[in-house]
Amino acid sequence: MKNFALIGLAGFVAKKHVKCINQLKGNLVAALDKHDNVGFIDSIFPKCNFFKNENNFFSYVKNRKIDYVVICSPSYLHFNQIRRSLLSGSNVIVEKPPVIKFEDYKKILKLEKKTKKKCFCIFQLRLDKKLKKLKKDTNQTVSKSNVEIKYYTYRGSWYFKSWKNTKNYSGGLLVNIAIHFFDILLWIFGDFKKIKVKKRKDSRVEGTIILKKAIAKWIVSIEDLNNKNNKIKSRYSRTMKIDKKIINFDKFNDLHLTNYKEIMKGNFHISEFSNIIKLLSVLK
Ligand SMILES: NC(=O)c1ccc[n+]([C@@H]2O[C@H](COP(=O)([O-])OP(=O)(O)OC[C@H]3O[C@@H](n4cnc5c(N)ncnc54)[C@H](O)[C@@H]3O)[C@@H](O)[C@H]2O)c1
Repeated sequence: MKNFALIGLAGFVAKKHVKCINQLKGNLVAALDKHDNVGFIDSIFPKCNFFKNENNFFSYVKNRKIDYVVICSPSYLHFNQIRRSLLSGSNVIVEKPPVIKFEDYKKILKLEKKTKKKCFCIFQLRLDKKLKKLKKDTNQTVSKSNVEIKYYTYRGSWYFKSWKNTKNYSGGLLVNIAIHFFDILLWIFGDFKKIKVKKRKDSRVEGTIILKKAIAKWIVSIEDLNNKNNKIKSRYSRTMKIDKKIINFDKFNDLHLTNYKEIMKGNFHISEFSNIIKLLSVLK
């Protein structure tokens, strides 16, 4: 049985991770959060040791055999927490974006060599079946595609008061939300050559990106589309049009468990995401 420790237990995404650890018959032995609204854990991992202090959490991790520290904290904390986890003798599973600066990515690779531990990432959209097929088909063609991405994913007023809307903490809308489709674009259509951000505000950004095998126009918006003047009825609509074909990628939120299974096989290592981390360094 694998032992896990988790950072950011009280947050939104941590619940998906706790579910995965449970489904994989792992044991969550410790967790850290600065907030203590974590009572849900009693019905799943009743013996989990809860910490509010990061130093105490890492002393605990260092003194026990913890296979993976799972990082579900705000993105600006990831690098330091990855560093401390590796130095404490654990592998890491970190939510997207693993880090925001490319220099930090390079430091992690060095730390991995020093500690002989590894850092893995959650980028679950790469596991969507339709997108996997598109990648396979694209690998077999030489022509360049015209791509259009419309990524509408509503967020209420809380978002604008949260760390997620603070550029230094999350990287802003492009890093925090558009990262999902930018990663997919690079993964399917190859390296990026040029990116242009045309219209930018807190709740909506538009632009173009030129990749090795595609030219893509994209829009990401967290505005409410569900109003009378708009044809779109849902508050969420995530589509990719490739030449004339439309792919809908609305269901990717259920792919965490598949991502965990890949990590357990040694896949989804941070080095598989170097291109997207490089792009984030340009965007932020
Ligand atoms: N893969 C996905 O689809 C997906 C979805 C949502 C979020 N995420 C990523 O997961 C991470 C967390 O996002 P979230 O939506 O759960 O955020 P959140 O704000 O809901 O949760 C973050 C948690 O971290 C805790 N925290 C903050 N500072 C801390 C500190 N210094 N020490 C310990 N705990 C601290 C907060 O109290 C909170 O409980 C982010 O990196 C985000 O990009 C990924």
